[in-house]
Amino acid sequence: MDEVREKAKALCTRCRVCPVCNGLACKGEIPGMGGKDSGSTFIRNVEKLREVKINLDVIAENREVDPSSFLFETRVSCPVYLAPIAGITNNYGAPISDEEYTRRTLEGCQAAGTLAFTGDGVKPEMFTGPLEEIDRLGGWGIATMKPWQKPGIELRIDALRQKKVLALATDIDSAGLPLLRHSAIPVENKSVEQLKELKQMLNVPLIIKGIMTEAGALKALQAKADAIVVSNHGGRVQDEGLATIEVLESIVKTVDHRMTVLIDGGFRTGVDVFKALALGADGVLIGRPLGLAAIGGGKEGVTEAIKTIREELRQTMIMTGCHTIHEITRDKVTVCF
Ligand SMILES: Cc1cc2nc3c(=O)[nH]c(=O)nc-3n(C[C@H](O)[C@H](O)[C@H](O)COP(=O)(O)O)c2cc1C
Repeated sequence: MDEVREKAKALCTRCRVCPVCNGLACKGEIPGMGGKDSGSTFIRNVEKLREVKINLDVIAENREVDPSSFLFETRVSCPVYLAPIAGITNNYGAPISDEEYTRRTLEGCQAAGTLAFTGDGVKPEMFTGPLEEIDRLGGWGIATMKPWQKPGIELRIDALRQKKVLALATDIDSAGLPLLRHSAIPVENKSVEQLKELKQMLNVPLIIKGIMTEAGALKALQAKADAIVVSNHGGRVQDEGLATIEVLESIVKTVDHRMTVLIDGGFRTGVDVFKALALGADGVLIGRPLGLAAIGGGKEGVTEAIKTIREELRQTMIMTGCHTIHEITRDKVTVCF
């Protein structure tokens, strides 16, 4: 992987490719890879994960350890997904088109047995292009749509209906992004009613990305969402927010198995993934570092990065006496915050 990182470093003029991607060097850099303003939300995502500790206990039956899981009805090699990232040239400063990036990430994840989320942007092609790629892979991917006003949504859902895709995610926390708020068809805050309407327009599961409170989770439930992503957009939409790992457990309790709960923000290793699973998440999205793997190593870079994370997760399962993902329960970690 060092070679991939070196290559990514040579290609990126904005991302510094730090030894640990923690938001410190790039704080406030948007465009760029940082968190918004002081960068504190991104930094906190990473720091608070360090305050969840693994409870080592190896006294267990010596059976096979299997990190495979399901997203809805689809089996994946491990519950780790590539988060949607758009604007590769603008943010990483890498000479790679979003189209090429999308191809690398979808194919790289498929080869590793798991799924990538794709991005969206002001131009409808930024949504429909990735959709074509997902369709080409037999529906192996999750399209992500910004919370556009109605005409922007209708256009994209019409396109979605004609393609094979595993699910639709919508990053509702993009509602305040200045660039999108002032585009020809702008983004907007979505009410429960509007999200319900969106759900009714779909023939695939709806994932609402950008939930940080119990109240938000309850509203997603009212809208009949199939899943949420506990996410603060990697700290890029609001300064001085809590870390996602801090709010996960209470949201999981509120949801009480009525929908799938995913999480992202600051996850870097399979050990980090284990922590979220122990606190009740069904899966973890990883953003910035997997993006670097795609830039520096192409499709193969993504596959290798996911395999490494899967192996780290599997090793942590061995050290905690877990044979399956379902055995990763609350007692396997200690929360120190
Ligand atoms: C450069 C950049 C671009 C992003 N673009 C999108 C996007 O288009 N849609 C979206 O839902 N999230 C987007 N995100 C947020 C990620 O999907 C994810 O929530 C976040 O990066 C997770 O944190 P991590 O990078 O620390 O793993 C973006 C994040 C970054 C860093």
